[in-house]
Amino acid sequence: MTRLLTDTDIDALRAQTPGTRTTTHFNHAGASLPSSATLSAIHAQLEREATSGPMEAGVAASAITDEARALAATLFNAQPDEIALTGGNSQGWGAAFAALGGWNAGDRLLVGRHEWGGNLAAMQFAAQRAGATIDVIPSREDGTLDTAALASMIDERVRLIALTWLPANGGLINPAEAVGAIARRFGIPYFVDAAQAAGQVPIDVRTIGCDVLSAAPRKALRAPRGTGLLYVRREFLERLTPAYVDRFSAPLDAQGEPRLRDDAGRFESAETSMALRAGLANALREALAIGVPAIRQRIDQVATTLRQRLAQIESVALLDDGVERSGLVAFNLAGYEPQAVQAALAGRGISIGLSGVPYTPLDMRARGLTSVARASVSYLTTDEEIGRLVEAIIAIA
Ligand SMILES: Cc1ncc(COP(=O)(O)O)c(C=O)c1O
Repeated sequence: MTRLLTDTDIDALRAQTPGTRTTTHFNHAGASLPSSATLSAIHAQLEREATSGPMEAGVAASAITDEARALAATLFNAQPDEIALTGGNSQGWGAAFAALGGWNAGDRLLVGRHEWGGNLAAMQFAAQRAGATIDVIPSREDGTLDTAALASMIDERVRLIALTWLPANGGLINPAEAVGAIARRFGIPYFVDAAQAAGQVPIDVRTIGCDVLSAAPRKALRAPRGTGLLYVRREFLERLTPAYVDRFSAPLDAQGEPRLRDDAGRFESAETSMALRAGLANALREALAIGVPAIRQRIDQVATTLRQRLAQIESVALLDDGVERSGLVAFNLAGYEPQAVQAALAGRGISIGLSGVPYTPLDMRARGLTSVARASVSYLTTDEEIGRLVEAIIAIA
């Protein structure tokens, strides 16, 4: 049974998060605030590098890599050899996508309406070069991906299904598992962008049935920027030849022949920041100790409160689609560009995010939106902070 987070737990977690004392943060979906222990883990590795020599400290810190990989595997219900430590969500997703290779004229790539713009850019380049097409899976009235429509789109030319699970431009949660059931039924490769999902909702790659899943740990997981996670299903790995390799991903053997790694490490680079990995490992450890089901429950509670409070402001239009919702709260304030709202809030020490057309182009265009203000919460968010944000928006309006 999930042990729920109490207000006392939240107070303790905030006390261990220096940023909660210096800023009112509603941009956890951009990047969240790290804990003191995560900062210490980063500093400690930099200290070791400064005192023992960076390469020497790196050898000693290889345990950090093993630990981060094992913790990520636990978080996703995967095996450690199915996890690559990357530099960001797009880096992992893009590397796996490029490794699929071999697109032909007439091939079809099916994408949800909320696909992340960066993933779409990668798909568009490949599709244009090959004469393949990108077809958008319709959404239901409430914005959620329509799984019946997806099933009816499948034919022998479909070579990929790509889904952004929790979109960047609002609170909708897409049915990742139901999409996975269709992908499995027809044997089609299935990529899930879980940039916003990792650390916010429980993830079980086996239940989802995905072949590839990418994550951005700087968001809900509160890891440092410049970190990323990539899951590749073990049996799927042999279909992926990385677009480029190095001495780590494909070391030369005694005969001088490159040997592609037989684990997800084929998507890692030889050179990396061990300090960031130390921070990542600590952030993963913390999220697992709190428990993702408890985090999900708390975020849902906090986001619901924020939506209710914003709904009481006459000039605020809430823009979250979907039924089941995440901690990303999209809104606009009548008469103001979202940029102006963001700037005015920043002047009051409150950070929110913005989401424009390039981030989720298909959905924004479908809904006739050019930009939305995005207040995203964490389990760290308090009622008092929500009050501060709401009062500030009322003052601006
Ligand atoms: C859904 C989604 N996918 C991908 C990304 C990009 O992640 P990264 O900047 O780590 O490549 C983001 C970033 O906000 C996102 O929200």
